[in-house]
Amino acid sequence: MQRSPTPQGTVDHERHYTQAVEMSEIAAHKSATKVRYQACMPGRRSRPGILLIRCRVGLSELRYRDSRRYGSVHDRLAKERMTRLAIIGTGYVGLTTGVCFAHLGHDVVCGDIDAGKVARLSRGEVPIVEHRLDELLAEGLRNGNLRFVVGAAAAVADAEIVFLCVPTPQGDDGSADLSYVEAAAREIAQVLPYECIVVNKSTVPVGSTRVVERVLQRPDVRVVSNPEFLREGSAVDDFLRPDRVVVGCEDRSAAIAVGALYDSIRAQVIVTDPASAETIKYAANAFLATKLSFVNAIAAVGEP
Ligand SMILES: NC(=O)c1ccc[n+]([C@@H]2O[C@H](COP(=O)([O-])OP(=O)(O)OC[C@H]3O[C@@H](n4cnc5c(N)ncnc54)[C@H](O)[C@@H]3O)[C@@H](O)[C@H]2O)c1
Repeated sequence: MQRSPTPQGTVDHERHYTQAVEMSEIAAHKSATKVRYQACMPGRRSRPGILLIRCRVGLSELRYRDSRRYGSVHDRLAKERMTRLAIIGTGYVGLTTGVCFAHLGHDVVCGDIDAGKVARLSRGEVPIVEHRLDELLAEGLRNGNLRFVVGAAAAVADAEIVFLCVPTPQGDDGSADLSYVEAAAREIAQVLPYECIVVNKSTVPVGSTRVVERVLQRPDVRVVSNPEFLREGSAVDDFLRPDRVVVGCEDRSAAIAVGALYDSIRAQVIVTDPASAETIKYAANAFLATKLSFVNAIAAVGEP
C-alpha cells in the first residue's frame, strides 16, 4: 500500500496525471464505456489551470485493478457485505448516515457528545422530521445492528471505518470552523483500531483531509473524503438514492472499501483525490446558491 509523498496541503499534479493515464489504460482494456475519465493538468493538457476533478474513474474499474495487483485488509472489507462502522456526530448528516447504513446491513455504532440525545435515540426517538427516519431507526434498533453511545472514542473501539459527521459552522468572515473536526479526530486518534479508515463527511475547505491526517498522526490509518449531498427534508431518500457518491482518497484499496459500503444502492460512485472531492462539495453548494440567487432575482423582476 502506498502513501502519498505529497507535502501536506499541496497537490501532486504529476502523480495525479500518472494515475489518470494508468486508469485510461484500464479503460482501454476493459469496458471503456463504463469509465468516466478526465485528466486536466496545467502544462500537460490543453486546458491549463483546470484543477477540478483531475482524475475520476468508476469504482468497478478500481476494484478490478486492485483485485489483480494488491492485497490488503481493505480488499477484504470491499468483498464483505457487512462492515463495522462508527459514525461520529448524530445530527442531520450523522444520524441519517448511521440509520441508512444500518438499513443497508452494516453494523453501526453512532457516537455523540450529547448524552441526552444518545439516550433519546437509543429509545427510538428521532429529534428531526425526516420521512422514514423513525421507521429505519426502529428497524436498526430492533435488528441489533444500530447502537448509540456517548463520545467518539467509545464509538470507534471496534470500527473498520469511521465517519466524521460533526459541525463545521461558518464564521463571521465566511470561513469554516474546523475545530469540531479536529477535536473529534484528536479524541479518536489513539483508540482507532489498526488500519482503520477515517472518512470525513463534514463539509470542509479544500485540504482538510490533510488536516485530519495531521491530527490523527496514524500512518496505518487512511483518511478519505466522502462529502454528503443530502437535503434536509428528504435526507433518507437522498442518501439511499443519491445522484452520485464521491469518494476522495489517494489509497485505492481504502477508496474501494468506502465505495463498497454503497454497493447495495447501486449508486454512481466517483473516485477522485481528496482535494477534488472537497472541491466538488463546495462547487455543488455554490451552484445551488447561484440557482437560488437567480430565482430570487427573477422573482424580484416579476414583482409589481
Ligand atoms: N444538514 C445538512 O443538510 C447537511 C448536508 C450536507 C452536509 N452537511 C455538513 O455535515 C456536517 C454535519 O452537519 P449536521 O447538519 O449533521 O450538524 P448538526 O449540528 O445537526 O449535528 C452535529 C452533531 O455532532 C455532534 N458532535 C459535535 N462534536 C462532537 C464530537 N467531538 N464527538 C461526537 N459528536 C459530536 C453534536 O452534538 C451534534 O449532534 C457539517 O459539516 C455540515 O456542513 C450538512
